Amino acid sequence: MHRFQLTTTLYYGPDALSALNELAGRRVLLVTDAFLASSDLMTQVRTQLRDAEVEVFDSVRPNPDINAVTDGLRSFLGFLPDAIVALGGGSPIDTAKAVRKLALEQGHDLPAGLVVIPTTSGSGSEVTSFAVVTDAESHAKLPLTSVDMLPEIAILDAEAVLTAPPRLTADSGMDAVSHAIEAYVATGANVFSDALAEKALRLADAALVRCFTDGSDAEAREQQHAAATMAGIAFQNAGLGIVHGLSHAIGGSFKVAHGRLNGILLPHVIAFNAGTLGLRPQDLTDVARRYAALAAALGLQASNERNRVLALSGWVERLRRNLDMPATVTAAGVDRSEFLAAVPALAATALADFCTSGNPVAVTEADLAGILRHLV
Ligand SMILES: NC(=O)c1ccc[n+]([C@@H]2O[C@H](COP(=O)([O-])OP(=O)(O)OC[C@H]3O[C@@H](n4cnc5c(N)ncnc54)[C@H](O)[C@@H]3O)[C@@H](O)[C@H]2O)c1
Ligand SMILES: [Fe+2]
Repeated sequence: MHRFQLTTTLYYGPDALSALNELAGRRVLLVTDAFLASSDLMTQVRTQLRDAEVEVFDSVRPNPDINAVTDGLRSFLGFLPDAIVALGGGSPIDTAKAVRKLALEQGHDLPAGLVVIPTTSGSGSEVTSFAVVTDAESHAKLPLTSVDMLPEIAILDAEAVLTAPPRLTADSGMDAVSHAIEAYVATGANVFSDALAEKALRLADAALVRCFTDGSDAEAREQQHAAATMAGIAFQNAGLGIVHGLSHAIGGSFKVAHGRLNGILLPHVIAFNAGTLGLRPQDLTDVARRYAALAAALGLQASNERNRVLALSGWVERLRRNLDMPATVTAAGVDRSEFLAAVPALAATALADFCTSGNPVAVTEADLAGILRHLV
């Protein structure tokens, strides 16, 4: 038996923000970061919430740690809202999700639910039960998961992303691409998650570089915004793999954006998971065939399945170049010897990461260390 769950209601298209009118008469805790708190978008959100009683918590920090979540919880307990509205990228959304979870554990329900308005097209956090919280001391990234963190409503307003600068667009876009690719081969992949992952990747193929090159391209922004959410629904149901397990480990120790790390990792992980491509095409593993199928869904031309796997890696590398993203961690600013010295610890952390369990090929610490050494 397979299970595919759809929980979050999506509102999208022009005027999607007016879905906030449903919160009229409610007590709303609006969770965001300092930058977005003073944006035009915030003004639009406040306008739509004019008939609600609103308290703003705008001290969210990028890559929220447990202290940032505790601050948010304090705000929650002081106001006792009926609903939380999270406005921002993965950081405000994950903070809001974790606050909700902690409040629930203390016996505080949220009768009007969690409403999220993503302002980046990447994390997929608007439709997942995951929140990534950083351990303040070890800096390890801890992916938390609980059905209590699934948002009830996600408002996909592509205009909210128009102001995202090229670097953020590229990093979050590559994150979405990695969600689609990992979900497609993950242990929980199924026919429904496959459909969403394929479509997400095709949309990203058409739109991501356009968003990066011209941030005001409204059509491309809309497509990429939808792609990120589709990839989120796909991985929520199918799981992820060692791109994310390794990325969480590296991101906890070195300051490189999550999506940028995923772009560096993807070709190495595809090569590892697909196994020996020196085999005759008819002897390819099932996992290799899955990558080949995804390449075919992208319309990549190749003479056989084996070459199609290579074409998928080539597609990632081309996308990375077009997004002006580094191919190695050293090119991303990490010190080579510091990184190599950290490899054993990173491999151990990645092996224990929740996402690693979804990888289609079982891995050992030595396998992960081997992949890490190729990243410099
Ligand atoms: N929950 C999940 O499943 C999941 C998945 C992937 C990543 N994450 C987490 O999400 C976080 C990263 O999120 P993110 O990359 O979406 O960004 P973010 O929320 O960390 O924001 C990064 C910066 O971009 C700014 N910003 C956001 N939207 C903007 C816009 N439209 N215009 C201009 N500036 C804007 C913010 O103010 C902030 O300064 C990390 O903590 C990561 O670990 C979570
Ligand atoms: Fe991710």
